[in-house]
Amino acid sequence: MNATDFRFDPPERILMGPGPSNVSARVLAALARPTVGYLDPSLVALLEHMSSQLQRLFRTDNAGTFAVTGSGTAAMECALSNLTEPGDRALVCVHGYFGDRMRQILERAGAQVTALAGRWGAPTDPEAVRTALRDYPDTKVVAIVHGETSTGVLQPLTEIASEVRAFGALLVVDAVASLAGVDFATDAWNIDVAYSGAQKCLSAPPGCSPITFSPRALERITARREPVRSWYLDALLNLSYWQRPHGYHHTVAINLIYALHEALAVIEDEGLERRIARTAKTAAALWAGLEALGLELLVAPSARLPTLTCVLTPDGVDEAAVRAELLARHGIEIAGALGNLRGRAWRIGLMGTSCSNRNVVLLLAALESALSRAGHGVARGAAVAAAEAALASP
Ligand SMILES: Cc1ncc(COP(=O)(O)O)c(C=O)c1O
Repeated sequence: MNATDFRFDPPERILMGPGPSNVSARVLAALARPTVGYLDPSLVALLEHMSSQLQRLFRTDNAGTFAVTGSGTAAMECALSNLTEPGDRALVCVHGYFGDRMRQILERAGAQVTALAGRWGAPTDPEAVRTALRDYPDTKVVAIVHGETSTGVLQPLTEIASEVRAFGALLVVDAVASLAGVDFATDAWNIDVAYSGAQKCLSAPPGCSPITFSPRALERITARREPVRSWYLDALLNLSYWQRPHGYHHTVAINLIYALHEALAVIEDEGLERRIARTAKTAAALWAGLEALGLELLVAPSARLPTLTCVLTPDGVDEAAVRAELLARHGIEIAGALGNLRGRAWRIGLMGTSCSNRNVVLLLAALESALSRAGHGVARGAAVAAAEAALASP
């Protein structure tokens, strides 16, 4: 085959990993709208509309709310590199892989980083944050992941946020895997900067990541001693494009912005609260089904993240072979685990469009047959029955 014969037809997948989630036909269609200039009057009107859509999603009045051109990591880097200057003291809670990514970014930004290392699979204890802040009262920034996708832990934030506020520090929260999947309230919870990703619970294509800065955070940035080292991710420069009078900063991913806008409209049509309730109920069904398969979930029920479940692979079962079988036979993607859980666990996502009763039932049936072929005997039909019972409960 020569180069001109090459065609790319991506397969239809059921995306049940930690993101991306399935993108609906309505959102994909938005990508195909005509590309306009980055200062076209139609586009800047859309940007203004999207800022208010994102404010509603983050539940904030922050004027500094926009979407970073880049994946969730770009938003993470934007949040942390704007708030810290070389030598600033930062505290980062590391109870999983993405908390550690925050730590690495803070270190590269030149902060003096205290990493509060917690057990993978459990949330950070607010008492530990309080102690660390007492030990380092000059801490300027505290960083934490809300939905830790490496383990499936949902981190309670309100107590930690009040501690951070009491010490006069700013709180940065990674809501990449939680926004629009679980309850999140930027202003009510005293969060200074929160960011997310498009490809998880928003079910938009990756590459355009929501972020919000509180007035306190913007004041801190305005008072910086030196400019933000990343020109591209400079929050104030990005805002000078997103806000009137809309000056050029960089050429944003225009068609991805259309798609993100459409995905936000889908969420508004469903209703944020209903979407969160749907996610909780679907997750409860998944958990009941996995337990009926005799599988152990990594995280205790009180700390479980509905959008991502980490389930331990039974002894003697080849973790990667089961995943490969789910993909090859059923077109279902789930993920392996990261860090020291690698090879020992699966990660199953229930995000946005991918979070449906149908997908849970399909996955459980497919997993049941893959496990029995792998020699892990399970009572046939028990998992689907348990999930359906959970879905039928009020
Ligand atoms: C909690 C969390 N934070 C940050 C990221 C990084 O996002 P991206 O892969 O879009 O750069 C991810 C991606 O999986 C994530 O789950």
